[in-house]
Amino acid sequence: MTNWLKIDKLENFNEGEPVFHDFRYETAAIVRVGDDVFAFEDRCTHDDGPLADGIIDVLNCEVHCPRHGARFNFCTGEVLSMPAVTDVPTYATKIEAGEVYIQPPDES
Ligand code: FES
Repeated sequence: MTNWLKIDKLENFNEGEPVFHDFRYETAAIVRVGDDVFAFEDRCTHDDGPLADGIIDVLNCEVHCPRHGARFNFCTGEVLSMPAVTDVPTYATKIEAGEVYIQPPDES
């Protein structure tokens, strides 16, 4: 069974401005793109940089790490450029009745 965590109303998200949610061991950055939302771990896979502090390009679904410039597709997690070589983890999201939900990581 999937446990969904309600975050906030979609109308409270501004496109391209990340909303953060802290779990026990990690932080999710949730980004609105149009009427959809995507969520990824706010930690660069190169050297643990605060990924969502970088440039967020909603048109191309890209985030650019502020530390050394690695680029990721934040909609899929796919790494797009060096110096990172590993995809960034993502979280499933959904919108129901105007509310944004995220699927929490397994922290057991
Ligand atoms: S920590 Fe992100 S590119 Fe180095």
